[in-house]
Amino acid sequence: MNYKDLILDIGLERYKHSLRVMDTALELGKIYKTNLENIKIASIYHDCGKIGSTEEVLKITDRRNIKLSKEDLKSPEVVHTILGRYLAEHKYNIKDEDILNAIEFHTTGRPKMSLLEKIIYIADYTEPNRDFSGVEKVREASKKDIDNSMILALKNTIDYLKSKDIHIHKNTLDAYNYFIEIKGVII
Ligand SMILES: [Fe+2]
Ligand SMILES: [Fe+2]
Repeated sequence: MNYKDLILDIGLERYKHSLRVMDTALELGKIYKTNLENIKIASIYHDCGKIGSTEEVLKITDRRNIKLSKEDLKSPEVVHTILGRYLAEHKYNIKDEDILNAIEFHTTGRPKMSLLEKIIYIADYTEPNRDFSGVEKVREASKKDIDNSMILALKNTIDYLKSKDIHIHKNTLDAYNYFIEIKGVII
């Protein structure tokens, strides 16, 4: 596979991040016994829409007439995932719906995520270069119970966004509510 176009788009550093996401995701894929080929593709391309700054991403999305919801526009840093899904399909010719969803929801999460979606979300959150507070707990939980690690990661994300007074995408809140419901967490 030739990743020249991808590296030209996202830069070498982000490509290296994608390789670290792949290693982390493959480790999880082996634990949860899922399709490793799909994990490889989803990991490598998960940030294929992260072309330059958020402003540039918004410009490209506009130029290509990609529809964004009001909710997406309130969380512009999420838009690279929507552009990513589009480019994965139309530029890199990925047709597998599960892989496309894993790319689209790798930042916000969503209710009823597939195993692949959860693995890519968590691998992006916990790849070895991530060292923010709480990441180690998510890393450890992900190897034992992926849904528990989703709760921890979503909670951290929500707490962080709240602390900065940043809009929380509806998919993130819905995902959090979904996972605490299926895990029967009583507060
Ligand atoms: Fe991303
Ligand atoms: Fe990423």
